[in-house]
Amino acid sequence: MPLQMEGMVVSNERVKSLYYLLGIDCPPIADQIKPGQFVMLKVSDDRSPLLRRPFSVYKGYPFNHPEKRKRGYLFILYKKVGAGTRKMTTLKKGQKVDLIGPLGKGFTPPPLPSSTPPIFIGGGVGIVSLYPLAEALEGKHIFVFIGGRTQDDILCVEDFKKFKSNIFVATEDGSLGVKGTVVDLFLSQRKIFKKNEAYYLYACGPVAMLKALAGSVQSKTFICQASLEARMGCGFGACWGCVVKTNHPQTAYQRVCEDGPVFRLKDIVWE
Ligand SMILES: Cc1cc2nc3c(=O)[nH]c(=O)nc-3n(C[C@H](O)[C@H](O)[C@H](O)COP(=O)(O)OP(=O)(O)OC[C@H]3O[C@@H](n4cnc5c(N)ncnc54)[C@H](O)[C@@H]3O)c2cc1C
Ligand code: FES
Repeated sequence: MPLQMEGMVVSNERVKSLYYLLGIDCPPIADQIKPGQFVMLKVSDDRSPLLRRPFSVYKGYPFNHPEKRKRGYLFILYKKVGAGTRKMTTLKKGQKVDLIGPLGKGFTPPPLPSSTPPIFIGGGVGIVSLYPLAEALEGKHIFVFIGGRTQDDILCVEDFKKFKSNIFVATEDGSLGVKGTVVDLFLSQRKIFKKNEAYYLYACGPVAMLKALAGSVQSKTFICQASLEARMGCGFGACWGCVVKTNHPQTAYQRVCEDGPVFRLKDIVWE
């Protein structure tokens, strides 16, 4: 059940280039959040910008987390792209922020027992929404493909190294890892995965990345869930401002905020 709450900023630091990490003390939301869900954050006290902004929860620490000093905290890893995120960078420790969450339907973990390793594909800041799922699957061997325009856009590599993982990196300008897109990199490594097995693949990134992935993977071998990004008005299903076309027989247009943000990749109709 989503809650509208006031949280307190505990930290807000630049991680690299345009990326920042915001920590908020908000136990009721941190305690409920599931991998792939998001919050709508009011980024300033004044009316500019008026609308809340959606952000995946990168790390959430519930009441019973072993690290006492982090209990009830949630972290958002964000990129400064416009007016709202620019204001976010000015949030100070101790400041109150208004947020709604947890929102949306998150990722469904692979069924148990599943013999094949899950695959994660993240483009740019999209990798953030995949991290909590990897954490929830701790102990399982995973394959992680991380891509971005340049090395500055490559995030969370150290985080994924904590798990039993094979990590592959691609940048479009070749400044880190293999030159090209993350989807091209994944396709170049496809031989690792056996054709007669089923792999659970989790993806998040820009529309072009997800579209390219949808056009190039066999849905029998790769059962893909993708977290979509959309401009959002309300974030909880009321305004229909975030719809995406799907092949659903009754309701072709689905709301990214309420019916997603995670969808089966094969259900999306790319226009
Ligand atoms: C479910 C969900 C989870 C998200 N999680 C994260 C996250 O963890 N970290 C993060 O940095 N960002 C995330 N985003 C994107 C984030 O919401 C936008 O970057 C933010 O709203 C931009 O606000 P702004 O006022 O700074 O930019 P604006 O001034 O509103 O826009 C600036 C530029 O960003 C583009 N933009 C704005 N909103 C979106 C959006 N929702 N999707 C794609 N492009 C957008 C605009 O087209 C424009 O080019 C997420 C979006 C969704 C829907
Ligand atoms: S943002 Fe309002 S319905 Fe999705």
